[in-house]
Amino acid sequence: MKQIICLVFKLKIPFLLILGIFCGCAGSLDSDGEGRVYRIIGPAIPGGSSKWTLKRLEAQMGSKEIASGYFDKALGYEGSRFRGVSFAGLVDRFDPKGQSDAVLLNCFDDYQGILSIADIERYDIQLATRISTRPEFDKPGWLNPLLVIVPDNKKAPFQERYLTANIRELKFTRLKDYYAPLNKVGGASVGYTSFKDNCLFCHSLQGIGGNKGARLLKNYDFSRANDKNRFLRDFGAFHHKENADKQNVEQFVSASQLVAIIDFLTGVQKMEH
Ligand code: HEC
Repeated sequence: MKQIICLVFKLKIPFLLILGIFCGCAGSLDSDGEGRVYRIIGPAIPGGSSKWTLKRLEAQMGSKEIASGYFDKALGYEGSRFRGVSFAGLVDRFDPKGQSDAVLLNCFDDYQGILSIADIERYDIQLATRISTRPEFDKPGWLNPLLVIVPDNKKAPFQERYLTANIRELKFTRLKDYYAPLNKVGGASVGYTSFKDNCLFCHSLQGIGGNKGARLLKNYDFSRANDKNRFLRDFGAFHHKENADKQNVEQFVSASQLVAIIDFLTGVQKMEH
């Protein structure tokens, strides 16, 4: 046994080097997600979690071609096409007894999405395993499978929530547990709901959500009118429709929703101090 450990130690550096080169190549060869490994964590999985490739997902779940005016509108595209698997099918398979009421979507780029199972079923949400956009449209780096798709015949509310991309992990969970730390402060306010539907995925609060964007409570002192105005200015300067990385969040929130979001953040900040 000792000998084996010594051998592993001796070989560790060249082995890691080779592994590094191998992974590096695999990553750069295909940015569309082929060769990546995806994880599903759910109640009906032996051992709790399983690993998948896109090919295996398509083969085992069955896949179909999809168009999405919803996606095209949000990205300012036309004629995008997808191959996808039914999210509701995944739910049936991995949580057949309905122990969860939501699926957390952890992404390769520190984005954290979440969808309720009720919404997944109501809007027949699909998970795209292949994305084909027209060559005349610039494709941002984050636009990779797995990608949440609202299919054409479904009318989901127009929100950031239904556009999660670059998903690396699906984790069955319960909404009440997930949002518990924020529910205490947010209540049923418009600001809290708007923030949950459009911002939390990138701007985490109280340890919930993603960290793709800045820490808002660190960058702004919401007790000062000046900072509230700066928040609005910075939001408009970054999240507008010409955003080079297609992070046009402005399209999802009205001016009054933004004011409500500021009220909500002011409350969370007060509570933290
Ligand atoms: C897709 C991820 C994403 C979503 C969703 C998102 N943001 Fe951002 N946000 C960013 C990134 C990235 C930046 C700019 C880089 C940075 O400051 O980290 C940013 C910047 C900002 C800034 C300027 C921050 C600063 O310090 O300059 C504000 C304000 C802001 N976002 C508010 C919001 C609000 C409000 C929402 C929801 C209505 C929202 N964001 C949704 C990713 C996101």
